[in-house]
Amino acid sequence: MLDPFGRHITYLRVSVTDRCDFRCTYCMSEDMTFLPKADLLSLEELDRLCSAFIRKGVRKLRLTGGEPLVRRNVMGLFKALGRHLETGALDELTVTTNGSQLARFAAELKSSGVKRINVSLDTLDPAKFKDITRWGRIESVFEGIDEALRVGLRVKINAVALRTINEDEIESLMLWAHGKGMDFTLIETMPMGDIDGDRTEQYLPLSIVRARLAGKFTLEDSDYQTGGPARYVRVAQTGGRLGFITPLTHNFCESCNRVRLTCTGTLYMCLGQDDAADLRTALRASPHDHQLEAAIDEAMTRKPRGHDFVIDRRQTAPAVARHMSMTGG
Ligand code: 5AD
Ligand code: SF4
Repeated sequence: MLDPFGRHITYLRVSVTDRCDFRCTYCMSEDMTFLPKADLLSLEELDRLCSAFIRKGVRKLRLTGGEPLVRRNVMGLFKALGRHLETGALDELTVTTNGSQLARFAAELKSSGVKRINVSLDTLDPAKFKDITRWGRIESVFEGIDEALRVGLRVKINAVALRTINEDEIESLMLWAHGKGMDFTLIETMPMGDIDGDRTEQYLPLSIVRARLAGKFTLEDSDYQTGGPARYVRVAQTGGRLGFITPLTHNFCESCNRVRLTCTGTLYMCLGQDDAADLRTALRASPHDHQLEAAIDEAMTRKPRGHDFVIDRRQTAPAVARHMSMTGG
C-alpha cells in the first residue's frame, strides 16, 4: 500500500476496545463515556479486517486500546492472528498494555507468537501512580511486568513525560527499566480528546528532558528502529536503550508507515487528523473481501501529510476531539 506522499504503509494498529480499567488524567476524564457495546466489531470481524490488511502488505500488527487485555476473549484474537506469523505473511504481532492484566496473560501472549510488548508506566511511586491513573494498582503492573519477563517476552516501558508530575522521576524510571533489561521510551502528551485538567500544565517538551539527561549520561546516537515513531539513543552508563516519541517538538510524519483501526471498524489514516474511512460497512456488505479491499485502497489515497498538534496557551481545545483510547498508542 502506497500513500499519496510515497510512504509505504506496512504497520496497522488496532484498538480492540476503547474501554480501560484505568482513567489516566492525561488520557481520559474520570466519567469517560465509552462506545455502546453493540457498536463493537466481533473478534472474528477484527480478524477478517486484520487479515485483509495483511494481504495488502501490512507486516506489523499492534493490538492496543483502551486496554486491549480487558476485552473478553482477546486471547482468541491473538491466537488467530498468530497464524500469519507462522505463514510468514506477518513479521511481528505486538501489544500495548497498561500491564494490569499481564500476569494472567503473558504466557498466552508468548505462545501466540508475540515477542515484544509495550507496557505504559509513568511512575514507580504507588501514590503517584494512583494520582495519574486514578483507578490503577501499581502492584498488579509490577507483577505483570515480572511475569512477562519471566516467560521471555521483551518488554519496553513507555512513559508519558508530565511536567511537575513525573518530571523528577524520569531518571529513576530509566535506571529501573534498564536495570531489568527493558528499553525505555518517553512520549510527549498529545492534545487528543477532552480531559478534566489542562494539558498546557502537563506538557513537558522532550527537548528539555533530553538535554537534562545528556548532562548526566552519555547518550550515544543509535540507528535502532522498531518501525514505530521513536528515535533511540544508547545510554553508555546503563547499556540500555532510550527512546523519544516527540510529536510536538519534532514531527516525524515524513516517515510514517502506519494507519489505525478502531474497534468499530473506522480507519484513521493519521492519529492527529479527523478524517477517517468506514470499513465496517464494506466488511458487512459481503462475505467476500473485494469491497473491503477497495475501501482500504480508497482510504490510502486520503492519508494526510501529517498532524497539526500544538500545545500552547492560546490554543486550549484539543487538536482532535477523539481520545487516544479510540485509536490507541
Ligand atoms: N498523549 C500522549 N500519550 C498518551 N497516551 C494516552 N493518551 C495520551 C496522550 N494524550 C499514552 C499512554 C500509553 C499509550 C497507549 O498512549 O500512556 O503509553
Ligand atoms: Fe487506560 Fe492507557 Fe488511557 Fe491510561 S492511558 S486510561 S491505561 S488507555
